[in-house]
Amino acid sequence: MPYVNTKTILDKANKEFYAIPALNINNLEFLQAIIEAGIEERSPIIVETSEGAIKYAGNGDIQRGARFFVEMVRGYADSLDIPVALHLDHGKTFSVIMATITAGYGSVMIDASEFPFEKNLSETRKIVEIAHSVGISVEAELGKLVGIEDNVNVKEEDAVLVDPEEAERFVKESGVDFLAPAIGTSHGAFKFKGKAELDFDRLRAVKDSTGIPLVLHGASSVPNDIVELAEKFGADFKGAKGVPEDILKQTVDFGINKVNTDTDLRMAFIAGLRETLAEKPSEFDPRKYFKKPKEYVKDLIKQRMRTLGCSGKA
Ligand code: G3H
Ligand code: 13P
Ligand code: ZN
Repeated sequence: MPYVNTKTILDKANKEFYAIPALNINNLEFLQAIIEAGIEERSPIIVETSEGAIKYAGNGDIQRGARFFVEMVRGYADSLDIPVALHLDHGKTFSVIMATITAGYGSVMIDASEFPFEKNLSETRKIVEIAHSVGISVEAELGKLVGIEDNVNVKEEDAVLVDPEEAERFVKESGVDFLAPAIGTSHGAFKFKGKAELDFDRLRAVKDSTGIPLVLHGASSVPNDIVELAEKFGADFKGAKGVPEDILKQTVDFGINKVNTDTDLRMAFIAGLRETLAEKPSEFDPRKYFKKPKEYVKDLIKQRMRTLGCSGKA
């Protein structure tokens, strides 16, 4: 059961009340760390790539980038006995979505959340029709992820968070497989100025009204020990703050099944890389100076898998 459709993994998680981290990659080293974490934890794996990652890997050619990721992920997955899925994160461009569908991704996200509800619905429906006709599942987003400034103002926040009634209609009329409801998170390392808080009531209402697997974007926790280590070796991450681990766990209790994580992997990697370069100034073999960064990424993922409850679920 190696390379699978993301829906297989998420439907099981939805039924059994746990979540899987969906982990962004741009290159080989992060994939290796993810695979090793999955094997050691016996967890299903969801790997995802942004449009930017696909352009980067293809050196500007999106078809080549999408094929590259499918071949690389499949190349590892085929020899494993844990399920591995590959997902397009934040698909906004029709040509990139089509490139990933034809290359063999297991699911795509159509992110038309910047548009008004009706346009988001019609754009999503269009992609669902195409993707479902070839057996690929689809994620969409409702509401908009808040920026750091917006997040401290509760009144303004309401304008961009998901509306549970709209969510019910959106899921019914679009046929989407997974939904990302905006409940107060944001992308990157600077998510909250004050106390970290998410709208659990809204999340619960969306789960009650849709019943499908839900996705938390902007879910990195930005662990203090990683921030401190990176800063010890010269990084400047002043004010970095993520979603605390206990809040992540609560989102799973309220219906989240896919936890999108990119920033944490980047932070763990750079902390390990800075440490290695500082401690071994004569090292110039990438297989050696990537060793510690990969270990830190792997350890972070293993811990996250335990928090989300997917360890032992493969
Ligand atoms: O949600 C965004 C992901 O962190 C991907 O970011 O566009 O820098 O690859 P990226
Ligand atoms: P973070 O920036 O919190 O890792 O969020 C990643 C994400 O949502 C990818 O879609
Ligand atoms: Zn996201």
